[in-house]
Amino acid sequence: MSDKLWAGRFTQPTDAFVEEFTASINFDQRLYRYDILGSVTHARMLARQEIITGGEAETIVAGLNEILLEIESGNFTFSVAREDIHMNIEARLIEKIGSVGGKLHTARSRNDQVALDVRLYLRDEVDAISAALKKLQTALLDQAEANLDVIMPGYTHLQTAQPVLFAHHMLAYVEMLARDTGRLHDLRSRLNLMPLGAGALAGTTFPIDREWVAEQLGFAGVTRNSLDTVSDRDFALEFCSFASIMMMHLSRLSEELILWSSADFAFIDLSDGFCTGSSIMPQKKNPDVPELVRGKTGRVYGNSMSLLTLMKSLPLAYNKDMQEDKEPLFDTIDTVRGSLKVFAEMIAEMSIKSEQMRIAAARGFSTATDIADYLVRKGLPFRNAHEVVGKTVRYCVENAKDIPDLTLAEFQQFSSDIESDIFNYVTLEASVNARTATGGTARSAVEKELGLARQALKKGQV
Ligand code: ARG
Repeated sequence: MSDKLWAGRFTQPTDAFVEEFTASINFDQRLYRYDILGSVTHARMLARQEIITGGEAETIVAGLNEILLEIESGNFTFSVAREDIHMNIEARLIEKIGSVGGKLHTARSRNDQVALDVRLYLRDEVDAISAALKKLQTALLDQAEANLDVIMPGYTHLQTAQPVLFAHHMLAYVEMLARDTGRLHDLRSRLNLMPLGAGALAGTTFPIDREWVAEQLGFAGVTRNSLDTVSDRDFALEFCSFASIMMMHLSRLSEELILWSSADFAFIDLSDGFCTGSSIMPQKKNPDVPELVRGKTGRVYGNSMSLLTLMKSLPLAYNKDMQEDKEPLFDTIDTVRGSLKVFAEMIAEMSIKSEQMRIAAARGFSTATDIADYLVRKGLPFRNAHEVVGKTVRYCVENAKDIPDLTLAEFQQFSSDIESDIFNYVTLEASVNARTATGGTARSAVEKELGLARQALKKGQV
């Protein structure tokens, strides 16, 4: 028998280079478990529907299970001549059990088969990635909880703005990852539909039972249009979109960790296990892990763009172009899984230099807004208060002073509404703890959100 399961129509062999050029076995072999699972279920359905006999189905299933063992023990030779994972397994099956193996592909095409394999594979990966997101969120929550008293500068334009709790900053990333998890759950519901039965494009002439196959494989239902089924890759695109946004979040955290671990900020220490040294400068400890994650964000965006471009303008239904969906998808999955794993561990081991954060938080007139708010409570319109404090800050700059260093008399040069209680409002703690509205940085508000985030994680809501 030829290696080509479709050789019947041909008189000439495939050009050797074309064979290699068109093959996908080198990358789609990672789908083998799902390909076999799908085939086992398909064979059983064919027997249930009396399209093949029960005995034939048993022989096929036994052969497929042996092939699974061969692959898992490294005793299976993947062949480029057999093009892809589907034909590698089917040809091996026929080799092993003879012509009855040739009945497996009844009422099926590689076009619906590959859609099934990728959906099954991606569904497992989505679940593993959900769990990995949860681990990272837990590491962030643990850091927040362990450092609830730590105050750091909050920035806008990377200029000191207002003091915030370090825990509040960590919780910002917990929120981002919660939205990422939501997107993942959302795309899972559209992914979790069973495509087999679409055949090559138009359906099948055999009395198959798609719903039974869907139930066996844990799908929520079946796809509704055979043309769409074999040409739909939205699930891969949605996953890559999720991944792009998630990596964007990790790249922002990366950037902050890189800044914070520099000598100039010195807010954190990343543990040695997550850094490397320089071959020339002995003093260096480089934050390679966050740098690499920041860099890998680029390839994930690139994969999204590859997939979008790949699918653009493709006429219905299946086109060979679509074989190109796998490498960007697989690369995205690997990148996301690696990044989440390394980040969860790195965050868990990160140490916080609270004194440095506090010193920085006190610099840069970070409580200036609090003086303005104080004056507003004394009856001044906010705009006027802003003006008063602006002048106060200018005075500080010109006299090399910080706000808490000012005497009451100095304060009163700018507004007679300022009284001695002003000193209760310009400390870092006062500034932070005054922001008690939901979502604010007051310790009370942050503690509440921390508790809610923990609960949601436990219930699997985020
Ligand atoms: N290896 C192919 C892919 O990944 C499987 C489907 C091939 N179908 C076909 N008619 N050539 O897309």
